[in-house]
Amino acid sequence: MIYTCVDDYRRAAKSYLPKTIFDFVDGGSEREITLRANRGDFENIFFNPRTLVDVGKVDLSTELLGEQISMPLIIAPTGLAAIVHTEGDVAAARAAEQAGIPHVLSTTASDSIEKVAAGAGGNKWFQLYFFRDRELTRGFVERAQANDYQALVMTVDLVRGGKREKDIRNGFTVPPRITPQNFLDMVGHPRWLLRMAPHLKKITMGNVEGIDGAGEGVVALSAFMNEQLDPTISWDDLAWLRGIWDKPLLVKGVLNAEDARRMVDMGADGIIISNHGGRQLDGAPSTISVLREIADAVAGDADIILDSGIRRGADIVKALALGATACGIGKSMLYGLAVDGQSGVSGVIEMLRREIDLAMAMTGTRQIADLTADTLR
Ligand SMILES: Cc1cc2nc3c(=O)[nH]c(=O)nc-3n(C[C@H](O)[C@H](O)[C@H](O)COP(=O)(O)O)c2cc1C
Repeated sequence: MIYTCVDDYRRAAKSYLPKTIFDFVDGGSEREITLRANRGDFENIFFNPRTLVDVGKVDLSTELLGEQISMPLIIAPTGLAAIVHTEGDVAAARAAEQAGIPHVLSTTASDSIEKVAAGAGGNKWFQLYFFRDRELTRGFVERAQANDYQALVMTVDLVRGGKREKDIRNGFTVPPRITPQNFLDMVGHPRWLLRMAPHLKKITMGNVEGIDGAGEGVVALSAFMNEQLDPTISWDDLAWLRGIWDKPLLVKGVLNAEDARRMVDMGADGIIISNHGGRQLDGAPSTISVLREIADAVAGDADIILDSGIRRGADIVKALALGATACGIGKSMLYGLAVDGQSGVSGVIEMLRREIDLAMAMTGTRQIADLTADTLR
């Protein structure tokens, strides 16, 4: 299979994965208006190419949270990656390490904080969901600290789970429940089934497993998570977290400039502009459409990462021109992981690297710092 772009990885993932699982990864909430806007709004932004610039050497390296990274990209946190490939989060973290970019491990990841720390080096961050039980929440922060994670990401856009109608219709559960419909779906995807069958029972949420009262097996763990996810989180909780974590802190799921400014004033080192890849509030704006106003409000006092809809290097170049420091990928990484584990994730990262280089060269841009509003029409 020749992969010419991330969309080719998506197509391959679609044919490889059972529909129920592909839809869980790929789908959005409700009418998927936000999911579509995430792509459509990138496609409505055009470059302002400059010519006769010597682009014999184009440098993609840049600084994020004070660390040098090889290109302006991070792997966004995604829960339950092991349902697409047995190699799971460790594979994604290794691919990120190899590429010289940060990897963010989710609270609901398949692999635990400790397992990923032991299995991969590099720049590792941990994404935190707040539990109703604040001592449990504190426990995650302490585990991230003890295992040398470099930054903490507080996700704030999951006060309820989005209404993902494809999952409801498909009867999506982890591990897959055997109904006549799901049975046909799985046997219709024999490559996935052969690779995954021995592992299905072992799929877990590595960070939640073993917590008192969480139960056993991924169904019980998911139910525990849903019960524990705290819809009462407020500004006080951000202040609390800032008080107990002294390394870089980012807030993820921000779409409003005033919110972003207040977070920075409270000590956040980074803002992740995200609509959760179109999986939460349908009708939330695309991230690229709010980037400029948030960048103006933050005024260089914190780093800005944008995710949701990144499928091409050109998307990243456009986001950087509008004020982002780097971009994140969720689904693009999972398509690569599904089709080929760690090397699939590396394939996606390197595809984006080549495309960023290409778009920079053809717009007449030699280094990341030279991407400005002038890069766009
Ligand atoms: C299958 C899946 C699981 C996700 N799980 C989490 C999660 O556990 N925590 C979180 O903060 N974001 C989660 N996200 C959102 C991603 O971090 C990211 O914001 C989103 O995928 C970006 O959009 P993109 O998929 O278009 O790249 C998840 C996304 C997907 C697709």
